[in-house]
Amino acid sequence: MTLRASQLEFDPCDELAALCKAGGDPLRLNVLRALSNDSFGVLELAQIFAMGQSGMSHHLKVLAQAGLVATRREGNAIFYRRALPNGRLHAALLEDVDELPVPTDRQARIAAVHQQRATVSRDFFARMASNFQAQQDLIAGLPQYRDSLLALLDSLHFAPGATAMEIGPGDGAFLPELARRFAQVMALDNSPAMLELASQRCASAGLDNVELTLGDALQSEHGAADCVMLNMVLHHFATPAEAFRQLARHVKPGGSLLISELCSHDQSWAREACGDLWLGFEQEDLSRWASAAGLLPGESLYIGLKNGFQIQLRHFAQPLERAAFSYGTKGIHP
Ligand SMILES: C[S@@+](CC[C@H](N)C(=O)[O-])C[C@H]1O[C@@H](n2cnc3c(N)ncnc32)[C@H](O)[C@@H]1O
Repeated sequence: MTLRASQLEFDPCDELAALCKAGGDPLRLNVLRALSNDSFGVLELAQIFAMGQSGMSHHLKVLAQAGLVATRREGNAIFYRRALPNGRLHAALLEDVDELPVPTDRQARIAAVHQQRATVSRDFFARMASNFQAQQDLIAGLPQYRDSLLALLDSLHFAPGATAMEIGPGDGAFLPELARRFAQVMALDNSPAMLELASQRCASAGLDNVELTLGDALQSEHGAADCVMLNMVLHHFATPAEAFRQLARHVKPGGSLLISELCSHDQSWAREACGDLWLGFEQEDLSRWASAAGLLPGESLYIGLKNGFQIQLRHFAQPLERAAFSYGTKGIHP
C-alpha cells in the first residue's frame, strides 16, 4: 500500500480531537483527578474505581493516546501518571479536574492502595532485620556514599545547638555522625525490628543525644528539626511525591532536607530482594516534588557505583519564611 504525502502529514486538529475525546468522559476525568499527585498501576486504578482491569486499561489507553497520561515501567508493572500540560486546553482541563471532589468511598479505596504498598515495605523490614547489612550492600551500602554525604552535610554549616532528624535510620549506621554534629537527634522509623538494631548501635556507641521514635514518617507529626535526612528511604515510601509535603513540615524555617536516593534504574529484582517499592527516581522528579512542597533546590552530588547503580545526594532548603505554595496541579507523581 502506498500512502500519499497528505496522509502522512501531522494534523494538529487530530491532537485536539484526541484531547477532547479523552476528556469527554466522567470516568477518565476522575482518573486524572486520582493521578493529580500520585501514580498508580492499572490494577490499583481498577481497585480504586471498583471496575475490571480490562475496562480500566481501555480508558488509560485513550488517555495515553491523547497525551494526558504518561507511563513508567516499574519492574513488571506499568505505572500511570499525569503528563505535564501541553497547551492551554490541557492545562485548563487539569486545573478544573483538580476542583472535582473525591467521594469518600474512593478516598477510602485510594488509602487502601497506599496501605497495601506500605504493608509490603513494613513486612520486608520486619523479615529482613537479621540480614539488613547484606541486604543493603546488594545495591548501595552507606560506606559507598558516606564521605560524599558528610561533605554535603558539613558544607551546610549548621549552627551550634542545631537539631537533626533521621527518617528511616535502619540499623542506625549514620546516627553516630549526626550525634557528633548536632545537639539533639531524633531517629524515626516505622519498623520495630529496625529500631531495635538502631537502639543497639546507639547503646554500643554511647550516644546520649539520640532519641529513637517508632512512627510512620508519612502519617504522624513528629516535630521539626534543622536538618532532616533520609538515606535510601524514599523508594520504600508508598507515596513519595506526597511524602515531600510531609517531609517539608519536619524541616524548620532556614533548615535543610537531605536525601540520598537511587537514580532511576531498571533492575526489577530490587523489588523482591530489597523490598523497594520504586526503582529509584528521576532527578527532576525529586526537584519538582520538593518545589511543590515549598522547598528550594540546593547542591546535588551524583555517585556512580561499580554495579551500575547511581546515587543522587540532594539538598533542599526550607526558606526562612515559607511562601504559600500550591500542590496537585502540576502532574506530580508517583
Ligand atoms: C533501606 S532502609 C535504609 C536504612 C538506612 N537509612 C541506610 O541507609 O542504611 C529503609 C528504612 O526506612 C524505614 N522506613 C520505610 N518506610 C518508612 C516510613 N514510612 N516511616 C518511617 N520509616 C520508614 C525502614 O523501616 C528502614 O529502616
